[in-house]
Amino acid sequence: MKRFFILCALALCLLPAAGAGLNEKSSTTAEQWPDSTWTDTDGAYINAHGCGILKYGGRYYWFGEHRPEQYQEGQDGVTCYSSDDLHTWKNEGLVFRVSEEPGVDIERGCVIERPKVIYNPKTKQFVLWFHLELKAHGYEAARSAVAVSDTPTGPYRYLGSGRANPGIYPENMTEEQRSRSWNVTAYKEWTPEWIQAVQEGCFTLRDLEGGQMERDMTLYVDDDGKAYHIYASEENLTLQIAELSDDFTTHSGRYIRVAPTGHNEAPAIFKHDGTYWLITSGCTGWAPNEARLYSAPSIWGPWTKHPNPCRGEGSELTFGAQSTYVLPLPDGGFLFMADIWKPQNLKYSEYLWLPVQFDADGTPYVEKP
Ligand code: GAL
Repeated sequence: MKRFFILCALALCLLPAAGAGLNEKSSTTAEQWPDSTWTDTDGAYINAHGCGILKYGGRYYWFGEHRPEQYQEGQDGVTCYSSDDLHTWKNEGLVFRVSEEPGVDIERGCVIERPKVIYNPKTKQFVLWFHLELKAHGYEAARSAVAVSDTPTGPYRYLGSGRANPGIYPENMTEEQRSRSWNVTAYKEWTPEWIQAVQEGCFTLRDLEGGQMERDMTLYVDDDGKAYHIYASEENLTLQIAELSDDFTTHSGRYIRVAPTGHNEAPAIFKHDGTYWLITSGCTGWAPNEARLYSAPSIWGPWTKHPNPCRGEGSELTFGAQSTYVLPLPDGGFLFMADIWKPQNLKYSEYLWLPVQFDADGTPYVEKP
């Protein structure tokens, strides 16, 4: 009986949304994206993790990590699903494939994480970036890879992979910091001396010649058309924000360090009323932790830390999820997108999409009903 009443109440709540446009839908509750119905139009479970969304020509494209049924099969590449309403998702298949050729960077067995696609109106190309780890090398490589396509649904053509901005100092590193030399191995991790060394840029300098480490990542295209790559660097201890070249396929050479020793991953950025907001997670692998929130008046900072952006029950562990993307909606709202990882079988990791809400002072927060 109780269930009947709940169902009736639910149906009543949903009634006004029936037939409503995306605008109405997007500003209502997260129950419209329930954890249990993440299937595509073929009824198959959506396999697109660590996602990024591209809006192009009025349609949404959801790009994500393909995760195999059996771990040892390796990932197939990057998957894509398309939708006009963010609810009904058509499987567009694998838009980027790993290679079966031994020895290449993207050989089957490599790790592909957090793919993001942006459109470049100058080159009329869709540009895919993802975090790449080489086959059988764990998470040592810490590279980004880039591929391009003339259509959103690919196939994306691999351009290459590497680390960020070799030989170039971050803009917000002082002359004094640039001239230091550190013997990092002499310090025990998390001692005050080690923390200070990391904050002063010991890993930035260590990696200067070969380029900065790039792991969890996202992309952002600003209103002026400039694009940015935001990634966990320096042994996942410091985020970096790097401007992309005009064609979006490389870094321009301008970059900054953000929150040194903050230990941030899973960056998701958006801009609201002129303020840049960055939601991240801590670094606990597949296990959830408390989300973090930063804001800045400019992409170049200064970045200020705020309290946990999640509120209510389960908020101390981001409701069991980890941020991946914040999608601007046509009605001016934003959708917070996160992964509920299932490390025993990553393919069936779940998704959590919740509307971003704002306090009177403009601070964003996320609540799970
Ligand atoms: C998480 C990270 C994921 C993946 C995982 C591997 O912290 O956000 O993208 O790299 O670690 O353990």
